[in-house]
Amino acid sequence: MENLESLARESVEAVNQAADADSLERLRVLYLGKKGLVTEQLKLISTLDPEKRRSFGQAVNALKQELTETIRSRGENLAGQAIEARLEAERIDVTLPGRHATSGSWHPISRTIARMEDIFASLGFDSAEGPEIEDDFYNFEALNIPADHPARAMHDTFYVDDKSVLRTHTSPVQVRYMLEHKPPLQVIAPGRVYRCDSDMTHTPMFHQVEGLAVGEGITFGHLRGVLSYFLREFFETDLKVKFRPSYFPFTEPSAEVDISCVFCGGPGCRVCKHTGWIEILGCGMVHPEVFRHVGVDYEKYTGYAFGMGVERLTLLRYGVDDLRLFFDNDVSFLAQFQ
Ligand code: FA5
Ligand code: MG
Repeated sequence: MENLESLARESVEAVNQAADADSLERLRVLYLGKKGLVTEQLKLISTLDPEKRRSFGQAVNALKQELTETIRSRGENLAGQAIEARLEAERIDVTLPGRHATSGSWHPISRTIARMEDIFASLGFDSAEGPEIEDDFYNFEALNIPADHPARAMHDTFYVDDKSVLRTHTSPVQVRYMLEHKPPLQVIAPGRVYRCDSDMTHTPMFHQVEGLAVGEGITFGHLRGVLSYFLREFFETDLKVKFRPSYFPFTEPSAEVDISCVFCGGPGCRVCKHTGWIEILGCGMVHPEVFRHVGVDYEKYTGYAFGMGVERLTLLRYGVDDLRLFFDNDVSFLAQFQ
């Protein structure tokens, strides 16, 4: 009986201190398993004298019951603690910033060129390209700008060597295209051009989209119509547009087109150099001298041409007030165009 009492104390205490489910199970086997310490006591009952048997039997069974109950409740306790610990460990802080996948996007200039190509394709214009390092002949000579012509001063040219330049405009593609295609023809030519020039509305490298249409009976009216249609489609609003008489050696008559400044809306600001207008393109009727250089019959055909500044159009459409931002490659600037 004394053994039994100390076994009871020791086993209940051990169970209540079991640290986890595994050690609890080991204790159950130790006391209540087939060869467990309490089970051994149960086996003793039948060997005792009848008068001792009854009280000893009751005590052993009571211990077995108490221990079984203690193990059960300790088990419940431990399971609860395990869940608490897991909830704590797996807690999600929903206020933390998310981890998102970042993706690149079209550069605003590429996006504008794609839009321009779409609009002109819908009008039946083909698309062509030419080299950025260009022969003096295509960039100047064939465009009626001979070596001693004062108009060469209008282009701040980067020379590669005596014969070749970084093209100063996309107009040489007109020449190349007319040498390869017979009229009637309609084509645009987007691409990079270079000039020794830099401020808020000029960068040393920029993009132009050249346009050319040659056929019988083509007039300045067609040019006006196509450009006005293009500008309405491109800006999706009716910005004020101004055709201003101008001069290019390769067109006659010539004009430049200005658009009312989207930044100040008229009175003048830094971006429009206090004029209220921003020049976006040059245009005119193809000069007979250009047709002569490329072998087009200028008695039979007429044509118009234009050259648009892509950065200027992008700046006006998106309200970017400094053209140089397009080439800084600052990701936080570019991400706004996603
Ligand atoms: C020309 O380059 C002519 N080849 C355009 C042309 C084509 C006229 C066909 C007639 C027939 P201009 O130098 O004005 O013209 O330039 C055309 C446009 O390019 C300008 O209206 C302007 O929008 C843009 N541009 C000119 N210089 C710069 C520059 N440094 N940075 C950004 N855009 C410029
Ligand atoms: Mg100009």
